[in-house]
Amino acid sequence: MALAVLYTRALAGMQALPVTVEVHLANGLPSFTIVGLPEAEVKEARDRVRAALQNARFEFPARHITVNLAPADLPNESGRFDLPIAIGILVATGQLPADGLERFELAGELALAGVLRPVRGALAMSLGVTRARRAFVVPSENAPEAALVEGANVYPARTLLEVCRHIAGEELLARYSDGPRPTAILYADMCDVRGQTHAKRALEIAAAGSHSVLMIGPPGTGKTMLASRLPGILPPMTQDEALASAAIQSVGSQGFDVARWRQRPYRAPHHTASAVALVGGGSDPRPGEISMAMHGVLFLDELPEFDRRVLEVLREPLESGRVSVSRAARQAEFPAEFQLVAAMNPCACGYLGHYSGRCRCTPDQVQRYKDAHLGAAARSHRRADRSTRGSGRPHGAGGGWRKLKRDSRACGACANENARTAGQGQLEARRGRGRRPLRPRFRGGRHPAAGDREDRALGTWLSSRAQGGAHDRRSWRVR
Ligand SMILES: Nc1ncnc2c1ncn2[C@@H]1O[C@H](COP(=O)(O)OP(=O)(O)O)[C@@H](O)[C@H]1O
Ligand SMILES: [Mg+2]
Repeated sequence: MALAVLYTRALAGMQALPVTVEVHLANGLPSFTIVGLPEAEVKEARDRVRAALQNARFEFPARHITVNLAPADLPNESGRFDLPIAIGILVATGQLPADGLERFELAGELALAGVLRPVRGALAMSLGVTRARRAFVVPSENAPEAALVEGANVYPARTLLEVCRHIAGEELLARYSDGPRPTAILYADMCDVRGQTHAKRALEIAAAGSHSVLMIGPPGTGKTMLASRLPGILPPMTQDEALASAAIQSVGSQGFDVARWRQRPYRAPHHTASAVALVGGGSDPRPGEISMAMHGVLFLDELPEFDRRVLEVLREPLESGRVSVSRAARQAEFPAEFQLVAAMNPCACGYLGHYSGRCRCTPDQVQRYKDAHLGAAARSHRRADRSTRGSGRPHGAGGGWRKLKRDSRACGACANENARTAGQGQLEARRGRGRRPLRPRFRGGRHPAAGDREDRALGTWLSSRAQGGAHDRRSWRVR
């Protein structure tokens, strides 16, 4: 048979589109042509496939070989097509039987020695393959990830030869049956944080209602520490949430680590992050930090240091819960349902309210600092509130906060328990040595120089959210 047809998938954003690999052999001068990929990718795939076949002791045909990848307009990532192209050549030359090929989809990059290397997006591909009711032959490193899809028929292989033996019926590949092993999810524990009861309470309320949080306080007061502990008091992930979160990580450049199954992501990009790094992009669109934080926490530390334009791009995804990335070549849509936590200093020197009393900022300077930097944050808060309105979290048991009965307290937050004290997250300054937390100089009262309207607004806003959502967004910053 001089023609072989096989099936595989290409990744376009979150979608794994079906791709047909057709291999045709004709008489004529020996040549190896691949159509459907950009020029540079064709060259790479051709060289890898030829070397892998020769090193696995197969005969590479001295004929006119044409490989067609359809549809022709594919993302320019050739690695995953190596395995189906190599098998296609073997079938077309009669070195392997053609029976039953329509029951499989194959993906895998070939090393020159014929070993299979893992590919990106195995989970997203497995979703498509399972829907098409086919079995999926993947490099063994990808098998645990691909098998996360319910009902998936995954056959892991280590080398090209193993796949060939399976197709020839000599030695069948074993179906991957191990599910993700339930490992203890280790979040940073909230009980490491001493004191800060108001800030903890504000985080509890945020966790219960899926609200965004802005923490304002001097350096060293534990803002980063508190934010990193928020995932630990969120409810356990449902199966659907875990799958959605894993699917995005799987198409990202770092891939998905199965050990993190059902673990809420915590992403804390540095303030030098670009808009593309945050929302996603690239000529072959990849998810950004907001999508990688799907069903988890996105922490923006030192908020004023972020480029204003970078912060502005967050507004639309915060509202809609998804982001659409359009490039000249292709478009992709990524889900982006995350909880935003941000932190900033209260004034330009950062020490307003610190026990050391070293802040020398004038009231005007403080006010100007806040006016300049809180605008984008406040807008994000309002947007985030709108997007999560009425979507209070189910009151499942959260892990992490050992000393607190999170369930009852978080439910209480929704049911208006102690709402008056909620969210007044003024951070207490803390002395480096000794156990006794020190009070900031103007705790509980109004700093004569501070004009801390934003802190109060956040407190009022959180309180009214906790009182059943009857607040008015216009009440932000209104006392
Ligand atoms: N309330 C606290 N309880 C325990 N340790 C704290 C607390 N606040 C600060 N620390 C310690 O101080 C360090 C710096 O805190 P960090 O969260 O980085 O402060 P910030 O982000 O506000 O500048 C933390 O790593 C932690 O060791
Ligand atoms: Mg910090």
